[in-house]
Amino acid sequence: MDYNNPNGIVSTEQIPEGMVRWKSPSNIALIKYWGKHGNQLPRNPSISFTLEAAFTETSIQYRARREYGSGLEFSFYFEGEENPAFGERIGRYLNALLPIFPFLKQLSLEIRSGNSFPHSSGIASSASSMSALALCLCTMEERLLGVELDNEAFDRKASYVARLGSGSAARSVFPKMALWGKLNEVAASSDEFAIGMAARLHERFHDFRDWILIVSREVKSVSSTAGHDMMNNHDFAEARYAQARRKTHFLMEHLSHGQIVEAGKVIEEEALTLHGLMMCSMPGYVLMEPETLQIIRAIREFREKSGVQVFFTLDAGPNVHMLYSGRDEEAVEDFIKTRFPQYMEPERSIRDKLGAGPVQLD
Ligand code: DP6
Repeated sequence: MDYNNPNGIVSTEQIPEGMVRWKSPSNIALIKYWGKHGNQLPRNPSISFTLEAAFTETSIQYRARREYGSGLEFSFYFEGEENPAFGERIGRYLNALLPIFPFLKQLSLEIRSGNSFPHSSGIASSASSMSALALCLCTMEERLLGVELDNEAFDRKASYVARLGSGSAARSVFPKMALWGKLNEVAASSDEFAIGMAARLHERFHDFRDWILIVSREVKSVSSTAGHDMMNNHDFAEARYAQARRKTHFLMEHLSHGQIVEAGKVIEEEALTLHGLMMCSMPGYVLMEPETLQIIRAIREFREKSGVQVFFTLDAGPNVHMLYSGRDEEAVEDFIKTRFPQYMEPERSIRDKLGAGPVQLD
């Protein structure tokens, strides 16, 4: 796929002033993307559920620059305040996108972004924020250059562009479930963009919940980007990539046939494998907290005793995502109330569910 567009300069003398706005959700990986190469290409396919309550809203206000050279003119506000640290990352990203969107250097941009969840909640926002930004850029291109893509082609391009900002963001563009990475049995799948998989998700999973227990709000001691890097000289790398490919295949089968128990088993194995890989990286590191382990054990015990199919997964951090069907909401709530009442506090949890994907706001 080559989205580079050397002719993508706005031809009209008068570039209209305008604004684009998108809201885009976070996602939780069931098969983890861990290890990358080249320009943000994954070492193995990954599958995720798209969330609903955890999202980023981003707007870009644009107007013509009088004169332009090769650099960009933009300001970045996060939750109403200018944010130089985030702005720097956005600047690097936009610069890298110039071959795809050369018109960006003709414009002066004001980018504003905000999350539905507190920034300090320990919830990674790169998936929702980079996908929201990518969607804004693709909409701007349509408007300014008159490019018209059908919905599928638009989503694919947005996913490709989002991937260049953060790998996991490629998956946030689609409702309910997404697959990123080439998988032989799924014809349209690609390492370059994710594809929507809602149509293959059995209805039993459509009302699935993700109750996120915020064990710690601390900034991670090792970033995901550094973690991906360590996979490059990891003793288990090749075995892991082969395993992830196999598991993607099996999980897809379970998810499309409504096999909740079997899917849950793979999902939990994946979470523990991700943290196992971190622990035996060079140097090894641990992102789980003692309470992460207590919760994991309690979930397994509760499942065994009650028969309620609730599973855990983990991101690259200590917070626990509990996945379960909406019809078990009450039973899971009773479990949390009894065992971990601190997570009934709204500051310590996000009660999320499978969502409908991004929405253009204007
Ligand atoms: C553990 O997408 O945050 O959450 O591409 O460097 O931005 P970059 O990494 P990122 O990695 C996410 C890793 C993960 C698993 C996953 O979401 O698949």
